[in-house]
Amino acid sequence: MTQTQFTPRVFSGIQPSGGLTLGNYLGAMKRFVDMQGPEFETIYCMVDLHAITVWQDPAALSHNTRELCAGYIAAGIDPEQSILFNQSQVPEHAQLAWIFNCVARMGWMQRMTQWKDKAGKNTQNASLGLFAYPALMAADILIYHATHVPVGEDQKQHLELTRDIAIKFNNDFGVDFFPVTEPVIEGAATRVMSLRDGSKKMSKSDPSDMSRINMTDDADTIAKKIRKAKTDPDALPSEVDGLEDRPEARNLVNIYAALSDSSAAQVLAEVGGKQFGEFKPMLAELAVEKLSPISSEMARLMGEQSEIDQILARGAEKARAIAAPILKQTYEIVGMVGAASR
Ligand code: TYM
Repeated sequence: MTQTQFTPRVFSGIQPSGGLTLGNYLGAMKRFVDMQGPEFETIYCMVDLHAITVWQDPAALSHNTRELCAGYIAAGIDPEQSILFNQSQVPEHAQLAWIFNCVARMGWMQRMTQWKDKAGKNTQNASLGLFAYPALMAADILIYHATHVPVGEDQKQHLELTRDIAIKFNNDFGVDFFPVTEPVIEGAATRVMSLRDGSKKMSKSDPSDMSRINMTDDADTIAKKIRKAKTDPDALPSEVDGLEDRPEARNLVNIYAALSDSSAAQVLAEVGGKQFGEFKPMLAELAVEKLSPISSEMARLMGEQSEIDQILARGAEKARAIAAPILKQTYEIVGMVGAASR
């Protein structure tokens, strides 16, 4: 079957589950900003329905959704150019997710490493929503016929599943309706690691706040966390090969590269031979220079709650204008009576 030409369209999302980290910024948000431009239509979402697959305090969820919206804008997402909205306000996501729950197989979901990690040993007590999480994620993407999805490395398996769902739907119904989406996992920081343990991902759920840089950290805190970051006693190598088996060194070099829009090789060409005592202050200075304007703009926007709510409402309207006709066509393909005349 020939693949239809789809409009080049980017979709991605972040959970408003509190505490945006440097990992979210470098692995996702900064890339979202880079993809804004004439080449793509860009749609960015606060995935509040995904967030509630684990318990969220209602007041905190509202606060975190607005703070994430402020983060997107402070990082450089222009709400005039990109569509910016929260997932629950576009009901077509949940409606398409139900169809995909009936396309995807239990076995596919059981293989997801995020399910295994998040559900832990007591899977019987995990929410049904957590199990079905990847089908909702596929719906987020495919309800816009998105062609490109920028994410960090940890989302690769979910995007492969999205492709499997699109292919199975197309095959089951004998159509060429959903695009087979391209994951965009690129740049120096697709997997930012913990500052305390180079084998663990930097995460908002790590019990140690010293393991991560939060987008709301002030300059002193950022500098302190970098100063205290775990390293090894050797000097930095001049080439990337020299970072093998040195996960903490590699992580700091990658962070430097991503913040300065360069590559690990370029950074090492500049700093190779330096001790961490010299490199860490350079990194701290760069991090503060790049992150402080974002955190102060976030704080300013958080004082303008009605502006944020208006941006989200307008974004949801624009998103629905794309999503509703695609849901209607999906219902028609599946054979739901009444869909065609609505
Ligand atoms: P979430 O909220 O966990 O993460 C949001 C984005 O941040 C990236 N990320 C990282 N990148 C590099 N290093 C890290 N340490 C790091 N930590 C997080 C994630 O890869 C992600 O891109 N399931 C998604 C949310 C989602 C979504 C979607 C994404 C829902 N529907 C549709 C794309 C398309 C998630 O867990 O986000």
